[in-house]
Amino acid sequence: LATMALGAAAQNYPDKPVTIVVPFAAGGPTDKVARDLAEAIRKPLGGQVIIENVAGAGGTLGHTKVAKASPDGYTLLLAHVAMATAPALYRKLQYDALNDFEYLGLINEVPMTLIARPTMPANNFAELAKWVDANKGKINLANAGLGSASHLCGLLFQQSMKVDMTTVPYKGTGPAMTDLIGGQVDLMCDQTTNTLSQIEGNKVKAYGVTTTKHLSIPALSKLPTLDEAGLKGFNVTIWHGLYAPKGTPKAVLDKVNGALKTALKDAEFHKREEALGAVIVGDARVNPAEHKKFVEAEIAKWGPAIKAAGQYAD
Ligand code: MLT
Repeated sequence: LATMALGAAAQNYPDKPVTIVVPFAAGGPTDKVARDLAEAIRKPLGGQVIIENVAGAGGTLGHTKVAKASPDGYTLLLAHVAMATAPALYRKLQYDALNDFEYLGLINEVPMTLIARPTMPANNFAELAKWVDANKGKINLANAGLGSASHLCGLLFQQSMKVDMTTVPYKGTGPAMTDLIGGQVDLMCDQTTNTLSQIEGNKVKAYGVTTTKHLSIPALSKLPTLDEAGLKGFNVTIWHGLYAPKGTPKAVLDKVNGALKTALKDAEFHKREEALGAVIVGDARVNPAEHKKFVEAEIAKWGPAIKAAGQYAD
């Protein structure tokens, strides 16, 4: 009888609002992708989609909430590279990144930019590198908590510069950006979906992009890649994917994955995301199996760099 009830529920899915949990504060890059996706997936999914920001601990609070949510398809997670970095950072992670979630497909990939407060005296990467060397021990680097994209990029930046900086964690790079613009912190590495408008508005200073290819958006096209600017091999792109709790019925997963694929083809979604430098995934990683394989490879890729930093959270 229970199986029949589950089957019926799956057939009628969704018959109430679907929540997408965003594991960072409103106003940041993760929140931005989620709200753009919610707009595009609402129609193909056939129901109301609401965003719930559950911030803290580098995104792992939000991940944990969804891992433990009832597997009925009404609580989904939009998460990024923190799914791959948290396992190497958190000794008491409350979930298993690969086995406590159903993988619903990869959404986009977003480049990052290295930016500074508007009062930073350096006007290009070479001058910034000199400033960093001259201010060792006094530099404040903002991020969105241990395991966040901004944390990962900041970690690699410190390792490449061989300089330890004081990291100032926020609940997301939305709130962090406010303090950077206000000059409370010196530097931040953040996704173009959050930094483009601030760079165009001269609210922050930009020194380079974290991808190995130059970006085509005019305000970013003259920025060097950090790789060519001197941080050999620097290459960071932030991906976002959709997840459900393990055990969500297959009929529900198929419906959500189908709606996601339709949303990723939505012209308005492409326009909004690409205007900010994001690239929508158009390959097999929109399928659950390939999405999971990709994250497994990302866990293996980022583990060593993170372990080398020797930063852990309990
Ligand atoms: C991050 O640094 O992980 C994200 O940019 C945080 C956010 O989306 O606010």
